[in-house]
Amino acid sequence: MAGTTRQFDFLVLGSGIAGLTFALKVAPRGRVAIVTKKSRADSNTNWAQGGIAAVTSREDSIEMHVRDTLTAGAGLCREEVVRTIIAEGPERIQELMELGTKFSERELPDGNGKELDLTKEGGHSKRRVLHAKDATGAEIERALLDAIAREPNITVLENHFAVDLITTQKLGYVGPNRCLGIYVLNKASGQVETFAAPVIVLATGGCGKVYLYTTNPDIATGDGVAMAYRAGAQVANMEFMQFHPTCLFHPKERTLLITEAVRGEGGYLLGTDGQRFMPRYDSRAELAPRDIVARAIDSEMKRTGADNVWLDITHQPARFTISHFPTIYERLLRLGVDMTKEPIPVVPAAHYQCGGVVTDVNGVTDIAGLYAVGEVAHTGLHGANRLASNSLLEALVCAHRAARRVLENPSPQPEVNIPPWQSGRAHHADELVVVSHNWDEIRRLMWDYVGIVRTNKRLQRAKARIALLQEEIQQYYWDFTVTSDLLELRNIATVAELIVNCALLRPESRGLHYNLDYPQPDPAWAQRDTVVRKSG
Ligand code: SIN
Repeated sequence: MAGTTRQFDFLVLGSGIAGLTFALKVAPRGRVAIVTKKSRADSNTNWAQGGIAAVTSREDSIEMHVRDTLTAGAGLCREEVVRTIIAEGPERIQELMELGTKFSERELPDGNGKELDLTKEGGHSKRRVLHAKDATGAEIERALLDAIAREPNITVLENHFAVDLITTQKLGYVGPNRCLGIYVLNKASGQVETFAAPVIVLATGGCGKVYLYTTNPDIATGDGVAMAYRAGAQVANMEFMQFHPTCLFHPKERTLLITEAVRGEGGYLLGTDGQRFMPRYDSRAELAPRDIVARAIDSEMKRTGADNVWLDITHQPARFTISHFPTIYERLLRLGVDMTKEPIPVVPAAHYQCGGVVTDVNGVTDIAGLYAVGEVAHTGLHGANRLASNSLLEALVCAHRAARRVLENPSPQPEVNIPPWQSGRAHHADELVVVSHNWDEIRRLMWDYVGIVRTNKRLQRAKARIALLQEEIQQYYWDFTVTSDLLELRNIATVAELIVNCALLRPESRGLHYNLDYPQPDPAWAQRDTVVRKSG
């Protein structure tokens, strides 16, 4: 209802693993609203194929997982954060299983029962990735949503789009900034409603849609990072956008991820000549960390002029491939590709945002009352390149820790009168083409100028163009009533600006950020984050 304020104890934005885990843990102590811009199952989590990395095997150790994470992170991880998250992983995984998540199992070699079937991905020295065949995220999401449905204290508000955070600073109060609530567009009524709570959690995922080609669902428009930045929070390391090496290259299907587990189970990358090229780039070949594999593919495509490379697992028995990757096998078959008989055409695509809203390992941001958990947050776990399957782990552990933090430190709703949303003289937009044109232009320019390989000139060109587009979007925002398309456009423009600004701040190449003008890492930048904060 426009005009009235809806009061909750906890407001959670986003319905993936981070938001749902947090909500479940705090629900016994207060009323929770989960605000989600589409349906409850529309989350990045639901699309995760490969799995969740954690130490559950006797042949593995916390130390080895820590070492692999630090190596992939190329010198930029925060080691204490890495140790905390990895050490707490096994306990959180146990809870997920007790909640009903079913991970794939295999027969024990002696035939006496079953054990978790662990797979391997790039950068992992051991098999440690728990999975539910090739649809791990969907299985986790199912179990969490089932648990949410049993919780009377949780209200899930679908088709509700968070417009902006409401903070004391925005309302003109002096003193430390505090988050008070959010303005939310109810997509059914078209009205912007006011929600208040002493605890607000961003669990909105990442921003893959800022690039033309991505493995992410349409919802991944960086809403949380953009809102937090507008509210004055610190944002860091946005230059580290992870490109997944193997997204299907097909005219009818542009976002189908081919999980890294295909390479983990023996898949080879082949060039146009049908030969493996990864051994020329790295001794770990197809299982080198993602930044190395994605750059190698980019370089092969540029060298040969090919539109794609090939992922070949035809040397494995068909029964093995179909039982490990049933979802991918079926989806490819519908597109006319039989992965048991022919190589799969693949290209790198934007996949994961390693930077984000600056938090500690408990999700605490620098705005009181505001927390961020999961892909939206920057804890320091991923450094300059995320180790595969560490993201669901981070979301799970940090959501638990954030819940514990807020329950141990309860704070009442500040006594501040929140004004209702003002739409001024805004009227309905007459030319929606402006929104779709600007949306396409941002995604194309980010792909062309701010992709896998960057230069200062391309970054400057992108910066200038994004500034112009932002002026236009801002004008449109004030003149017309808000719609979810316009809000997403405003958010991807903000996130594009942040990626470019962070990239320009880093005078070196490290992990996922590769700039031809500074092709080497600079030791002076090894533990330095590129931190940006909105001025004024
Ligand atoms: C994959 O299945 O390859 C994706 C896993 C991840 O991004 O962590």
